Amino acid sequence: MTLFRRYALLLALAALALASTPLVAQSSGVAMTPPMGWNSWNHFHRNVTDAVIRAEADAMVKSGMRDAGYTYINIDDTWEGERDAQGNIQTNSKFPDMKALADYVHSKGLKLGIYSSPGAKTCAGFEGSLGHEEQDARTYAAWGIDYLKYDLCGLRVQMRAAGSHEAAHKVMVDAYVKMRDALRSTGRPMVYSLCQYGVDDVWEWGASVGGNLWRTTGDINDTYERMADIGFNQIGIGQYAGPGHWNDPDMLEVGNGGMTADEYKTHMSLWAILAAPLLAGNDLATMTPETLAILTNRDVIAVDQDKLGKQGDRIDADGAVEIWAKPLADGSKAVGIFNRQTTPQTAHVDFGRAGFTGAVKARDLWLHKDLGSISSPYNVTVPAHGVVMLRVWQ
Ligand code: GLA
Repeated sequence: MTLFRRYALLLALAALALASTPLVAQSSGVAMTPPMGWNSWNHFHRNVTDAVIRAEADAMVKSGMRDAGYTYINIDDTWEGERDAQGNIQTNSKFPDMKALADYVHSKGLKLGIYSSPGAKTCAGFEGSLGHEEQDARTYAAWGIDYLKYDLCGLRVQMRAAGSHEAAHKVMVDAYVKMRDALRSTGRPMVYSLCQYGVDDVWEWGASVGGNLWRTTGDINDTYERMADIGFNQIGIGQYAGPGHWNDPDMLEVGNGGMTADEYKTHMSLWAILAAPLLAGNDLATMTPETLAILTNRDVIAVDQDKLGKQGDRIDADGAVEIWAKPLADGSKAVGIFNRQTTPQTAHVDFGRAGFTGAVKARDLWLHKDLGSISSPYNVTVPAHGVVMLRVWQ
């Protein structure tokens, strides 16, 4: 083959590779497993400050959470200030120097996330990115931001004005594409988190507008009822999740005080089976050893972060007992046995429902104990609002 022909062949192959690359994430190579980190909203709401972020980054390292896989420190709404004369977004007085803060977070081996809205205003009424998308993306990149949560909120004004459902949908999709392209053109890899509460079945199109993750529901709160209502309803959408693009049933409430330890274990287990982003939402600087143990259960984290990237689903339900399973890269399966009742229940688990024949081997992921060989029906007592979580193989 002549040099020219070889060159032409290489070019053709490269063009083919580019053409066949699905336009999924805004930047490839990020969020290949569900993002893990911390976000300010669930605990601090409007009270997030530069000092809070530094303290949480410190605690993330000191507690061992970074070593367990938690990487992103995400500033949610209320950091935004006014725009300057050139239209550049500035921080408000709570964040004196965002670049210095990013440098600090990076010096801890962590990454920094930020928040905005495609509308003129954010949910909390601060400055949004409408009409300033490229400029804002460039600012984020210059600051050293690694993650953007882009929250629909203010754009609803434009969506309502659009006249029809189709037109409103187009306004929303165009806005998400616009910021995807703006982020891409900075050349800095940033995780792109869509927050629009599941509107128009976002799981069907979230990846095509560059989302690395997309919220599937309205906001979580620190009650078992709300957490369970969100988590146990994530049925049948696993096919839309995979490396680089994940369903997001919202951030964790573990450690915020509104649930029992068993309920928080349910929260953590269910989110892991759902291959959900694990964004802690508590105060890491003051958390109890019990909270830390739940958040850093490595067996459960391994289920969430499994390389296969398959979201789990419900495989059986008997009254208040639900069995959920998630296929894992090594051929084993994570099996969550959940009790949604307020009294302990005995579950009768048929591993046939999870695709196994005959006896299986199992490990209890909360007791950190190998159970040896067990067979169906596996009768096990599950605490009120609690979970027994197994890894099962043959
Ligand atoms: C919305 C989002 C929350 C949080 C707030 C901030 O409600 O869903 O996660 O970001 O806005 O204002």
